[in-house]
Amino acid sequence: MCTVRGERAADASCEGKLVLLLSGPNLDLLGDRQPQIYGRQTLAEHVAAATDEASRYGLVLEHQQTNHEGELVELVHGASGRAAAIVINAGALTHYSWSLHDALGGFDGVVVEVHLSNPDAREPWRHTSVVAPVAEGTVAGFGGLGYRLAVRAVAELLVSGWSSKRTMR
Ligand code: DQA
Repeated sequence: MCTVRGERAADASCEGKLVLLLSGPNLDLLGDRQPQIYGRQTLAEHVAAATDEASRYGLVLEHQQTNHEGELVELVHGASGRAAAIVINAGALTHYSWSLHDALGGFDGVVVEVHLSNPDAREPWRHTSVVAPVAEGTVAGFGGLGYRLAVRAVAELLVSGWSSKRTMR
């Protein structure tokens, strides 16, 4: 049985199967927060969709949300050697957190960036992502579907021998 949310010593059966979904500032308010932009679905509903998608591919999903930059950095640190992949919606930290950029750059697994909205179609300050240069790719603008697409991208990358292509980013 593969257990998550415990101590860092994950069950051996989790090896290569754990996907860490990270949510940054204000995403805990989804459902109430600017629904015209982010929709009516709550974060819990997005996590449930991502969890369901992960299970279709034999992956196990663990979710963490924080409103604090340093905590997000530490969650990334803790993922190395434990999670095969990180799916991250860093919220507004996406646009300026170089400490998050550096942490993700040091992570030894797949990184997929996800956004509900399409930041490139919004205010100019949202057009820069400091996550994108250290991610395999970005899923943005598809609302809640993005979480399923991001997990699917992780699954496909993991089975296609992604690690040998790591130098592409
Ligand atoms: C977001 C886009 C960011 O620009 C914004 O700061 C968020 C949410 C999204 O999912 O569309 O908090 O990451």
